Amino acid sequence: MPRKTTGIPGLDSMLQNGFPFPSAVLIAGEPGTGKTTLAVQSLFHGAKECEKGLYITAISEPQWLVQKFLSSFSFYDQEVVEKGMIDFIDLGPTIVKDPSGMLDIIKKKIEQCQPDRIVIDPITPMIDLLQWRGETREFMHELFAYLKAFNSLVLITSEMSYDDISHSQESYMVDGVIVLSYPEEEKVRRKFLEVLKMRGTKHTTGRQLIDITDEGLAVQAGLR
Ligand SMILES: Nc1ncnc2c1ncn2[C@@H]1O[C@H](COP(=O)(O)OP(=O)(O)OP(=O)(O)O)[C@@H](O)[C@H]1O
Ligand SMILES: [Mg+2]
Repeated sequence: MPRKTTGIPGLDSMLQNGFPFPSAVLIAGEPGTGKTTLAVQSLFHGAKECEKGLYITAISEPQWLVQKFLSSFSFYDQEVVEKGMIDFIDLGPTIVKDPSGMLDIIKKKIEQCQPDRIVIDPITPMIDLLQWRGETREFMHELFAYLKAFNSLVLITSEMSYDDISHSQESYMVDGVIVLSYPEEEKVRRKFLEVLKMRGTKHTTGRQLIDITDEGLAVQAGLR
């Protein structure tokens, strides 16, 4: 099976040398567990290998704010962004006005950009917007069918805890699920990464300790 290296130190060896390609992988975790860091670090890693990246959010925060936070990491490369190797787009303002048009906008952006790696970060507000209209299921089915037909690696982040995962539709629809967590154990809080599933991959099981530093996210050496 073709693979794409993740760009996360220690993660490739947990996944038989990287993410299956093409595939859609859910990066699940509670607030602040490192979902955005992992996903964007992987985009910049791809850009180094001349892969086009597309980052889609709907958080309605000014773009510069997201990039300002990310630019403190050493993997962030302004030149890559200026050259257009990674496009950052915020659908927030558009989709609040017209939630049903969300899928078409996403498709159009993907067709324009022709990305090798796509990040949707997070998918949670998109789902919430459609929930009250009862359109979530249809949206998810169509989105995943579209993404699967597109030859790329898709990382979708989602705000959820371990308990939420087994009840979520998206975790069944994707090829892989990675969970980030930071449980408190014996009065210390440590960060973990766990590969719950990865189709076609003999992956490492169980929670692995991770570090987030100025260099980004890494699975701790010795525990890989
Ligand atoms: N330079 C750094 N050094 C150490 N830790 C950092 C650094 N930058 C960020 N962090 C840690 O990473 C966390 C943020 O990670 P990130 O934004 O990727 O999480 P997230 O899961 O996307 O959060 P959210 O759900 O709020 O979007 C911070 O809460 C902080 O604990
Ligand atoms: Mg985030």
